[in-house]
Amino acid sequence: MTNLTNDSGDFALGGDLRVNRMGFGAMRLPTGTFAGPPRDPETGIAVLRRAVELGVNHIDTAGFYARGDVEANDLIRRALAPYDENLVIATKVGPLRGPDGLPSHQARPDQLRGLVEDDLRALGLDRLDLVYLRIGGMTMDLTESLAERFAVLAELRDEGLIRHLGVSNVSAAQFAEARSVAPVAAVQNHFHVHHAGDTELLRQCEELGVAYVPFFPLGGGDRPLEAERLGKVAARHGVTTAQVALAWLLAISPVMLAIPGTGSPDHLEDNMAAAGLTLTDDDLADLAG
Ligand SMILES: NC(=O)c1ccc[n+]([C@@H]2O[C@H](COP(=O)([O-])OP(=O)(O)OC[C@H]3O[C@@H](n4cnc5c(N)ncnc54)[C@H](OP(=O)(O)O)[C@@H]3O)[C@@H](O)[C@H]2O)c1
Repeated sequence: MTNLTNDSGDFALGGDLRVNRMGFGAMRLPTGTFAGPPRDPETGIAVLRRAVELGVNHIDTAGFYARGDVEANDLIRRALAPYDENLVIATKVGPLRGPDGLPSHQARPDQLRGLVEDDLRALGLDRLDLVYLRIGGMTMDLTESLAERFAVLAELRDEGLIRHLGVSNVSAAQFAEARSVAPVAAVQNHFHVHHAGDTELLRQCEELGVAYVPFFPLGGGDRPLEAERLGKVAARHGVTTAQVALAWLLAISPVMLAIPGTGSPDHLEDNMAAAGLTLTDDDLADLAG
């Protein structure tokens, strides 16, 4: 593997997996939108290989990132196996796919082992570096208890099938509930420059040395981040609003790990270049509104 520069700095996931803070999200490889047509697998493979060349060593994926017969985990294995020892692949379990192939309901505790085994097989691994329990639906369910399901993942960790555990789409109370069951290495929640209300959880992650991994770092793509505040800072640096949005995430917290998702070779180059963009205090003040 050729590691070019990735000057976003690094972070020790779970205390022992050192990753560059600018990573890659694989959800957009099989399809550009939630219910869109499948994308060309060869382009996805090329994007993954280029991401690694550009310094990505943290890839976020899931067994349910699939459209038709194009599956993110399959593309990752075909593009990158045998894996470099420094590559960290994070997966998620929880959502099950309905007849239309889209995530539709949640797995029962007794179904989680099978999902982890599916990920191991699809990725061609003996052990998964990081597995998140992803709870809730499209939005958070604050009343939902996760302890029983998290305990199943903790057992799989004890058996050696998983190295570290994470939780996704959780409140501060659900994060605490998970930590009462087993150590949590990462939280993955909806967060970006225009959706930044999760500060209590972010501060807790900082205090505990837990990674905070924002999903939809660019707003999820359906509503591009083109607000005036981003545009002003982007023009100042001669970069795109997407690059400012990514640089902002990395600037606001040392535990923040970016995983922008793209199936586009050009967008990948832009996103990785954002790792070298340093925002000034004026920029941060402008972005704060
Ligand atoms: N835990 C969860 O519930 C959850 C939910 C959603 C996502 N995720 C994870 O988080 C990752 C990031 O989220 P995401 O991929 O949904 O959203 P995102 O990174 O906020 O945005 C991706 C969208 O923005 C476009 N895009 C990417 N780079 C761009 C650029 N430089 N300029 C303009 N447009 C750009 C992409 O289109 P192109 O592909 O055409 O570039 C795509 O439509 C996912 O890949 C997935 O790994 C987790």
